[in-house]
Amino acid sequence: MKAVYLLLCLALAHRAAASIFRHQHRPHTDSLLVQPLDYVDQYQHHEKEIKMRLRRPGSSSSEETKERTSYDDLSDYASPLRSVDRNWNSPLFSAVIAPGEPLPYGDAISWRGVDIANGPNSLVNDKKDIEQIFNDAYKLMQHVSEEDKKKIHDAFETTAAAVNEDVHLNATQLIKKHGYGVEEHIVKTDDGYFLTLFRILPKQVSLDEEPRPAVFLMHGFLGSADEWLLNGPEKSLAYLLSDAGYDVWLGNVRGTKYSRHHVSKHESHPDFWHFSIDEIALHDLPAMINYTLKTSGQKKLHYVGYSQGTTVFFAWAATQPESRDKIISMHALAPMVYMSHVRSPMMRMIEPGSRFHEHITEELGHGEFKPSKEIIHTVGGNMCKKEIGCKHVCSNENFVTTGVDTAGMDPELIPAIVSHLPGGASTRQIKHFGQAVASHEFRKYDYGVDLNTKIYGHRQPPKYNMADVKVPVSLYYSEEDWLVHPKDVDRLHKELPDVRDAYKVPEKHFSHMDYQFSKKAPEVVHKRLIESIKKTKTY
Ligand SMILES: *[C@@H]1O[C@H](CO)[C@@H](O)[C@H](O)[C@H]1NC(C)=O
Ligand SMILES: *[C@@H]1O[C@H](CO)[C@@H](O)[C@H](O)[C@H]1NC(C)=O
Repeated sequence: MKAVYLLLCLALAHRAAASIFRHQHRPHTDSLLVQPLDYVDQYQHHEKEIKMRLRRPGSSSSEETKERTSYDDLSDYASPLRSVDRNWNSPLFSAVIAPGEPLPYGDAISWRGVDIANGPNSLVNDKKDIEQIFNDAYKLMQHVSEEDKKKIHDAFETTAAAVNEDVHLNATQLIKKHGYGVEEHIVKTDDGYFLTLFRILPKQVSLDEEPRPAVFLMHGFLGSADEWLLNGPEKSLAYLLSDAGYDVWLGNVRGTKYSRHHVSKHESHPDFWHFSIDEIALHDLPAMINYTLKTSGQKKLHYVGYSQGTTVFFAWAATQPESRDKIISMHALAPMVYMSHVRSPMMRMIEPGSRFHEHITEELGHGEFKPSKEIIHTVGGNMCKKEIGCKHVCSNENFVTTGVDTAGMDPELIPAIVSHLPGGASTRQIKHFGQAVASHEFRKYDYGVDLNTKIYGHRQPPKYNMADVKVPVSLYYSEEDWLVHPKDVDRLHKELPDVRDAYKVPEKHFSHMDYQFSKKAPEVVHKRLIESIKKTKTY
């Protein structure tokens, strides 16, 4: 009886602690163990910051009022008193820069009308840094026409948003709505995470039908299974594959909205989020793929990965020889492996060689990847706001990280995209990508020299060797993808031993999100992919 009581107390204490520390930012060195003392230090440090913020005198000069009006539509980025989890002293804070007010974070740097705050501790001391990071990305945003910008705005006006009911539906409901059958499956990984898989059942099955070959679809960074569905029947790859006679499975890696349970860790606690690409590749993929094979009664399957869905595949296949016995073919949409030429300001600012690195990682902390509005502004939101002018799009992590392109995207789809994405990820995931930018290699997670030596036995994390990926691969990439540069894909292509197809999408301005959301994706990508799967002999 006593033991039960004790356990109950411990459980309650754990929950209480989890909720108290929910929004705490931890110091930016990585650790394997969570030291309770760290929390205490951080908490006190944080309190000080909040007090400082509250002491800042309010100003009511008419000049400021005028200035604020011009930032009117940014008001949802900057409501001071509500935000407990903001670092007001940060040089990254750039939401409202009122002239004449002595701000603790110093002067602003202005670039093409975009203001980036430059605090006393900031290492960013000239415009060149900003230019270097933003120029390429900026160029790729230039082609969005005035007409498209207006359409994006209109899409968020009440009528259109109300008409698009998909905004409120989860994956199961989306699939059902279009007349397909659906199954939800829960898979437990060998390290205790529960992952949800969705299986799309065909609209019609004839009794004498042969078992359908399985195709497993793996979503991208900041995504979830939803992204394979939002474009709807006739356009989304998931439905097209089902119509073509395949047994379609949609995975959800740990940390996404459908995979947020663990045997002992609570999602509100940073411990839940201590994973990078490595853990997803080592635990989630084998669990989901084994389960799909077992349940569908197949020996092998086709794998389609998009964005991070390719990263985790290549990490798994390079280290687990069993992959050769389980994969018929791998289709890599926007393969994110080498990141040297990445154009996304977010990735370039978070990479360890960047002058922004320290501040951004400190602000992001160690738990779920949930950048504050200020970070979003700094890493591209301000630029997006200036170019596209729509706050809904420009405060969305996916659009800010991968760019806004509407050349092929139906503006009416955008409210649904914004409501379903981001799908959830850990801070360590994005840091891992940042490390790839800096190291020009695809390595395991870099914990810093000391921990690397303990964990890997070397000062540097080991590389994933692409020559060991012994499965047939098809690569799909495009010229204007912020995250995936053709030069980086060329390198991957050269290193992979069995590339069957390397296809550069022949569509102007085709960008990262277009694989999922462009009207033209079925014609310029999916058709070729499905043909290729059909041609591949099953065994
Ligand atoms: C989707 O929503 C339906 C209806 O609310 C619910 O029954 C179902 O459990 C949800 N599925 C998931 C995976 O969230
Ligand atoms: C998956 O199946 C293989 C055997 O095919 C087994 O060795 C491996 O441990 C399984 N992995 C998981 C996570 O279940």
